[in-house]
Amino acid sequence: MSDAKRNPEIKYTQIFINNEFCDSVSGKVFPTINPCTGVKICEVQEGDKADVDKAVKSARVAVKRGSPWRRMDASKRGKLLSKFADLLERDKDYIASLETIDNGKPYADSLDDIHASADVMRYYAGWADKNSGKTIPSDGDLFTFTRHEPMGVCGQIIPWNYPVMMLAWKLGPALACGNTVVVKPAEQTPLSALYCAFLLKEAGFPPGVVNIVPGYGPTAGAAISEHMDVDKVAFTGSTEVGKLVMQAAGASNLKRVSLELGGKSPLIIFADSDIDAAVYWAHAGIMNNHGQNCCAGSRTFVEESIYNEFVEKSKQMAEFRMVGDPFEDATQQGPQVDEEQLNKILSYVEAGKAEGAKLECGGERHGSEGFFIKPTVFSNVTNEMKIAKEEIFGPVQTIIKFKDLDEAIEKANTTTYGLAAGVITKDIDKAMTFAQNVDAGSVWINCYDMLTPQTPFGGFKQSGQGRELGEYALKEYTEIKTVTMMVQEKNS
Ligand code: NAI
Ligand code: MG
Repeated sequence: MSDAKRNPEIKYTQIFINNEFCDSVSGKVFPTINPCTGVKICEVQEGDKADVDKAVKSARVAVKRGSPWRRMDASKRGKLLSKFADLLERDKDYIASLETIDNGKPYADSLDDIHASADVMRYYAGWADKNSGKTIPSDGDLFTFTRHEPMGVCGQIIPWNYPVMMLAWKLGPALACGNTVVVKPAEQTPLSALYCAFLLKEAGFPPGVVNIVPGYGPTAGAAISEHMDVDKVAFTGSTEVGKLVMQAAGASNLKRVSLELGGKSPLIIFADSDIDAAVYWAHAGIMNNHGQNCCAGSRTFVEESIYNEFVEKSKQMAEFRMVGDPFEDATQQGPQVDEEQLNKILSYVEAGKAEGAKLECGGERHGSEGFFIKPTVFSNVTNEMKIAKEEIFGPVQTIIKFKDLDEAIEKANTTTYGLAAGVITKDIDKAMTFAQNVDAGSVWINCYDMLTPQTPFGGFKQSGQGRELGEYALKEYTEIKTVTMMVQEKNS
């Protein structure tokens, strides 16, 4: 692959407020690192409380009565979203390069993420002029209708695993509903969002509608969730920080909260399934995006009669997975996002071994440079082990045995999480019984990790609050106003 792809010119490293790039108030910067090498790519302006304040002020002015954004036809908002989608696709090669050097994911996957992001923007472009209220037959001589209004200024804190896509999932519904936003990209991966800032301006969004403040979580992130003039905060990341965000919202101004958090999602494989297809879905379900996926199928449950064969085939598939330079076409897995994640994953491998799981393959670093790890498979895992309870967020498959449907459902639900689940079987009754009884926001039957712009996504239990994507996400960005009028009926 060409040098230009591997070494994209870094154009934007500043904070984006009111459609202008600016330095941080403190003058501080922070490095962003290429996880393939561990070497710094560049420095980025480090936003903190003072910068978040500036961004919120700009977002507030932009959403006030009479502002260009507030007065804009809803259909025109949709056109701006569509235009942004077109610009994402126009510059996809460049953005994919930025994404890959900053995050480490294969270049082809970065391109897929950008297309998926454009699709999400177009989906919400269509909703911009369709988020309508109702007329309601209220008791008495009354006529009632509801208005769906924007919440106002929305803070959006996003993670590093899908930097562009998480930005699109957040911006799409927020902007379609007429809100203004202050986005904080993850400190590990700020570059693609800052380039998107430039594209949003080019698309024609008025100043202050989208503000992007790169910085760290406990500083810039916390400043958003604690802010007295932010009306809503949307967060994607760890359950631990999700709790902090919700506490901060409660302790400050009771801003609305939506959370998309972690998971320990079960994928159930019944003995009647096509074993090779099942091995593939289970492998892809955990290994995609290097296991750095909130809905990763991180507990593979296999019916006992096919357990040994399944383990053997899963091991072969993991050993065959191409790890290496994300700019090479054949590569399926690049480095983990940073050293902290690499070390966390390796510590889970040790915990698995210590608790008696059998390490079938991997379990160690790949090469000596950067943050690569070998695809890892554990067998003889029980649902009580640490590696089956906690989110590893790495390419580590844990394979657990089960006897029958009842046990599968019981074990699948024995977790504090509830983001996603899957089932592979030819028996439609088993599939539907599982789908009806598993505590999970998304259930996939004979597939896994199939997300579309139209389908809502979010968690039961400690996997989150609210839904992203689909029509349901509009609710997270809409205030409902009830307008009731007295009607004096004329008799003559
Ligand atoms: P994190 O939850 O700390 O970071 C996610 C985002 O939250 C980042 O933008 C970060 O700057 C921000 N943040 C951190 N502390 C904050 C605070 N006090 N207030 C407001 N915002 C804050 O996740 P981290 O540390 O990067 O990864 C730790 C684990 O979290 C991972 O190993 C994984 O298990 C999970 N995770 C889950 C994700 C998901 O998609 N559900 C995404 C990223 C991480
Ligand atoms: Mg953290």
